[in-house]
Amino acid sequence: MHLPASIALLACTLTAAAQVPYEEYILTPKSRTLRPAKVYSVNGTVQSAENLIRGQSASTVFTGPSAVTYDFGKNVAGLVAFNVSDVAGSNAYIGISFTESSLWISSEGCDATADAGIDEALWWAVETDRYYAAEKQHERGGFRYLNVYHNSTGNVTLSDLTVYYTAIPHFTEEQLAGGVQTGYFHCEDDQINRVWYAGAYTNELCTIDPTAGNSLIYLGTVNSTSNVSEPLAWYNNYTISNGTAVLVDGGKRDRLVWPGDILISQPGIFVSSYDMEMLRESLESLLVEQNSSGALPYAGRPFGEMLPVWSFTYHLHSLNDIYDYYLYTGNETFLKQSWDIYKQALNFSLSFIDDSGMANVTTSADWLRFGMGGHNIEANSILYHNLNLAISLAGHLNDTSAFVQSWPDIAEAIKSAANEQLWDPELNLYRDNDTQPLTDLHPQDGNSWAIISNLTSSSDQAVNISIALQDRWGPYGAPAPEAGETVSPFVSGFELQAHYLAGRGSASVNLIKLMWGDFMLDDPRMTNSTFIEGYSTNGDLHYAPYKNDPRISHAHGWATGPTSTLTFFAAGLQVTSAAGQTWLIAPQLGGLQSVEAGYQTSVGSFASHVTSLGNGGLNVTFSTPSGTSGKVQLRYSGELASLTVTNLDQQSPNVRRDWVGVVVKRQVTETEMGAKVVTVDDLPGGNYTVILVTGT
Ligand SMILES: *[C@@H]1O[C@H](CO)[C@@H](O)[C@H](O)[C@H]1NC(C)=O
Ligand SMILES: *[C@@H]1O[C@H](CO)[C@@H](O)[C@H](O)[C@H]1NC(C)=O
Ligand SMILES: *[C@@H]1O[C@H](CO)[C@@H](O)[C@H](O)[C@H]1NC(C)=O
Ligand SMILES: *[C@@H]1O[C@H](CO)[C@@H](O)[C@H](O)[C@H]1NC(C)=O
Ligand SMILES: *[C@@H]1O[C@H](CO)[C@@H](O)[C@H](O)[C@H]1NC(C)=O
Ligand SMILES: *[C@@H]1O[C@H](CO)[C@@H](O)[C@H](O)[C@H]1NC(C)=O
Ligand SMILES: *[C@@H]1O[C@H](CO)[C@@H](O)[C@H](O)[C@H]1NC(C)=O
Ligand SMILES: *[C@@H]1O[C@H](CO)[C@@H](O)[C@H](O)[C@H]1NC(C)=O
Ligand SMILES: *[C@@H]1O[C@H](CO)[C@@H](O)[C@H](O)[C@H]1NC(C)=O
Ligand SMILES: *[C@@H]1O[C@H](CO)[C@@H](O)[C@H](O)[C@H]1NC(C)=O
Ligand SMILES: *[C@@H]1O[C@H](CO)[C@@H](O)[C@H](O)[C@H]1NC(C)=O
Ligand SMILES: *[C@@H]1O[C@H](CO)[C@@H](O)[C@H](O)[C@H]1NC(C)=O
Repeated sequence: MHLPASIALLACTLTAAAQVPYEEYILTPKSRTLRPAKVYSVNGTVQSAENLIRGQSASTVFTGPSAVTYDFGKNVAGLVAFNVSDVAGSNAYIGISFTESSLWISSEGCDATADAGIDEALWWAVETDRYYAAEKQHERGGFRYLNVYHNSTGNVTLSDLTVYYTAIPHFTEEQLAGGVQTGYFHCEDDQINRVWYAGAYTNELCTIDPTAGNSLIYLGTVNSTSNVSEPLAWYNNYTISNGTAVLVDGGKRDRLVWPGDILISQPGIFVSSYDMEMLRESLESLLVEQNSSGALPYAGRPFGEMLPVWSFTYHLHSLNDIYDYYLYTGNETFLKQSWDIYKQALNFSLSFIDDSGMANVTTSADWLRFGMGGHNIEANSILYHNLNLAISLAGHLNDTSAFVQSWPDIAEAIKSAANEQLWDPELNLYRDNDTQPLTDLHPQDGNSWAIISNLTSSSDQAVNISIALQDRWGPYGAPAPEAGETVSPFVSGFELQAHYLAGRGSASVNLIKLMWGDFMLDDPRMTNSTFIEGYSTNGDLHYAPYKNDPRISHAHGWATGPTSTLTFFAAGLQVTSAAGQTWLIAPQLGGLQSVEAGYQTSVGSFASHVTSLGNGGLNVTFSTPSGTSGKVQLRYSGELASLTVTNLDQQSPNVRRDWVGVVVKRQVTETEMGAKVVTVDDLPGGNYTVILVTGT
């Protein structure tokens, strides 16, 4: 029997990260020493500007006031250094500045890390035969373009311009050379493949040295670009967590741990590099900040000390992140250690529930949307979701306390109240809240979360929400009206999950191509490698909550939703308990013809390869570690002609398992909208082929 590449790979050992297939898409550099890929533009008199992209010995001469903008071809991060081999003239200076988007290349300085203005260039007074390197606190966490300025009348000869790559600092040079990714994805659509790998890479740029966090020196100072006078000093030298690496929201900024952002980036890291220890350190940096009421912080340190605001939703996201961390690693020690924190935090959230059955949110802080308050649909869906996760964790921990036993009824009351009070049958969407007079605002976040959390009371309600959300898309993506004229790659990541969960995978595939492919990767204002945090519905690189456009981050982990979504839903490769002790294979091609994905956990290697057989038929080849168990769940429409499940491990006809016609092994559930789901469960880990044929 011929095994596809993904299955053959599993014969390799866990350390063979370099041998993941489709390596050509990986954006992680193979060495920490980076050089620019090309010259973007030259101002003034510069001789052989391109020599600085060539390596150590070739040099470039700057004559009089002049500048070169170099392009790394992708977003990178690090410490700049260069050699000056000759200075002719006096008072010679070389300046360096950084920008993620080409929009903010300027003679004045960098793009911005604060709302207060743009960041200053780094300047050196230079002499012949000396080597200059940025100090550690001037690690720049995200830039595609690097400007070299010369501002005096003489000549300066420069060579060996490099950037020491500082992202994912806990990997050695050898590990980088060998490849740090352990997961892969591939389908026949090249743009979608690039999106998957750009998501993985974005999360790497957000994985930083914990001593190089944000000191938040300009927190609260807001200037629009028009009234900025002088570029601002900037530095990254605040210690934000223990450990050797930490996951922050963005490479350039905030460089802080945010629990909401982790809810998207953690699963992305799980499927691409399984870099879980730094995730635990990141979560612990949040948990150590719990206060006596049970409240968990809006963001990691030093944010809370400077701006003590609490967020109902971000507080719960820390709990969702604990659940995910445990799901992906099975680290029971961590779960047991965190369980009291978890319960106190949940108890605090439940104290906001009023007579309506729903929580009344009294603080506006969320993902920078507006109007967060009252009986909000997003907040209540997330609370409902978290109660259900908590019930499953309590079951696992055998916690049968009265407090735990109260959760199912509380959850049920939230669900019925939200459907009674917030559902708008005219639009097939939930309203933002029930504050009188009733709002016309039907948010993207709450409606996506209602599907994810199963707050919806039927599958046709979920389908109708999915259709209504898709109907609102504009030329640049899915709108988030709860944040003004905004497209949110963060909230749209939840919308992607919602479409798949509603059985409308093609909506997700189309949204990934529209937002993440055509706009976030292929628009020339972007980095062609990492994903932006937010933009305007009209395609401007303006994010409604910010006054200062150069501040927008172009490498934001919260924008990496497609990476995990494509693996979990398109390839259908999901773990359902403790690092994959149990698993679910539930692919939805969503219009694609062939999708492959694989990843590794502490339990072993997981892979699936799904191919359309035409006419709604599917060929699913998958592999899961021995000693695990799981099930296959396939959607189809029309009639099920046959379903064949073959275990490939044992070629002997005696042990070959074949479920054709063995009705007792499959359960067919017909959804209200006519789609059907066939489930084969109790499968032991191993290598399988499943063939589903529809028709009469
Ligand atoms: C180069 O000149 C253009 C046009 O004057 C200007 O907009 C740009 O900021 C300059 N670039 C640098 C790096 O100085
Ligand atoms: C060049 O820039 C440096 C650093 O900003 C400054 O000190 C120096 O005065 C500038 N030289 C000229 C000729 O403008
Ligand atoms: C700087 O370089 C230019 C062009 O090569 C040359 O004409 C000029 O004499 C040099 N200036 C000095 C001060 O060496
Ligand atoms: C920001 O605006 C304030 C006035 O609101 C002004 O005093 C300050 O100089 C501005 N900062 C910068 C860097 O332009
Ligand atoms: C960070 O760097 C700034 C500027 O060099 C310095 O003033 C500050 O003391 C440093 N902070 C820490 C925590 O090292
Ligand atoms: C680091 O760990 C120590 C000991 O557990 C803890 O007290 C401290 O708060 C931690 N620091 C951070 C930033 O998480
Ligand atoms: C599990 O979590 C504990 C802390 O709760 C930590 O000490 C341990 O290293 C973790 N195990 C793994 C394999 O990461
Ligand atoms: C929510 O709580 C606030 C503050 O206590 C209160 O003013 C408001 O009336 C409450 N909203 C609802 C819908 O009960
Ligand atoms: C209800 O939602 C609308 C629309 O988002 C918002 O303007 C309003 O402030 C919300 N009500 C409360 C109490 O937050
Ligand atoms: C929960 O109880 C079951 C049955 O007694 C036991 O096998 C399991 O180890 C317990 N789980 C934990 C986390 O203590
Ligand atoms: C969703 O909720 C319904 C009840 O409204 C329940 O029957 C169904 O099992 C739930 N689905 C999941 C996946 O938990
Ligand atoms: C974008 O990056 C891909 C590699 O990921 C490359 O093949 C492509 O040429 C780049 N596009 C542009 C416009 O530079």
